Amino acid sequence: MARKKIALVGAGQIGGTMALALAQKQLGDIVLIDIAPGVPQGKALDIMEGRSVIYSSALLTGSNDYADLADSDVVIVTAGVPRKPGMSRDDLLGINYGIIQTVGTAIKNTAPNAFVIVITNPLDAMVYAMQKVTGFPSKQVVGMAGVLDSSRLACFVAMELGVAAEDVNAVVMGGHGDTMVSLYNYVSVGGIPLPELMDRETFDKLAVRTANAGGEIVELLKTGSAFYSPGLSAIKMAEAYLLDKKSVLTCAAMLNGEYGVQDLYCGVPVVMGAGGVEKILEVSMTDSEKLAFEKSVEAVKSNAEWVNAQA
Ligand code: NAI
Ligand code: 2OP
Repeated sequence: MARKKIALVGAGQIGGTMALALAQKQLGDIVLIDIAPGVPQGKALDIMEGRSVIYSSALLTGSNDYADLADSDVVIVTAGVPRKPGMSRDDLLGINYGIIQTVGTAIKNTAPNAFVIVITNPLDAMVYAMQKVTGFPSKQVVGMAGVLDSSRLACFVAMELGVAAEDVNAVVMGGHGDTMVSLYNYVSVGGIPLPELMDRETFDKLAVRTANAGGEIVELLKTGSAFYSPGLSAIKMAEAYLLDKKSVLTCAAMLNGEYGVQDLYCGVPVVMGAGGVEKILEVSMTDSEKLAFEKSVEAVKSNAEWVNAQA
């Protein structure tokens, strides 16, 4: 079987984390691509030099040329700028939209069969822009956020109950912003529904912490945002695709009628396998959860409308 090729566009904090995780898992050969001279080359070489320690035969290269995307099986995009003091959310939207246009055009021209995972913020708008610029089938273009947000909620539930995080399953839907919706009835702990183990009031506090979890890390780091858990979350998605796992994951997927929403990327549970987003799962929600989800959809819609206005 031919070795798979995984391209990481953006070799910053998340890009580097993903390169290491991919090398450890030996999911394929890895190319790191960035505009910063030397950075992708340096990170690739650094991990190459550690392979005998981790018993990995993955090959890593670094490049400043999008031509090296050629024939990638998976492309994961973190290229972009983070928010800096004095910059508005709209400034970030405009700058990162331009970067997604450039990167998306390169992916379309060099790796037309790639499964594309977008991480760049504002996530729901950037993955929408990526699908529009590549013109790829929407099942081939997804956004990473729900795996991370659900993992954060699972972590907080596990910490509160004093149980293993790996035994907690959680579902956080909607946009990757402060309107995201944590679903009480869909958390399970070793197969036991959470309402059996935790009251609603306690859960609501954990849901608020989840919605603010990205900001909590920024406050602590001061110079950037979370990168370990975002990187690992994206690799879980790549693995589901490359190994045809049929994993049930929450991610930003194109909705075309599901949940009553048209032509919009938003966080929902999906089945992910070799066909990309093979199925969108429509789950029932309580009236208040439905309202919260609709509010989140509206928040995502305004950025998508901005993207459409650029076309
Ligand atoms: P970073 O600043 O460490 O890395 C971004 C990299 O993109 C830099 O190395 C930069 O040189 C590169 N870059 C900029 N323009 C480029 C271009 N045109 N082509 C190729 N590379 C280019 O940032 P980090 O921490 O890795 O985060 C990346 C993105 O992910 C940010 O937009 C951040 O807000 C977002 N993010 C999203 C999350 C999610 O759940 N979706 C979670 C955490 C971060
Ligand atoms: C996060 O959730 C900032 O989107 C980034 O950590």
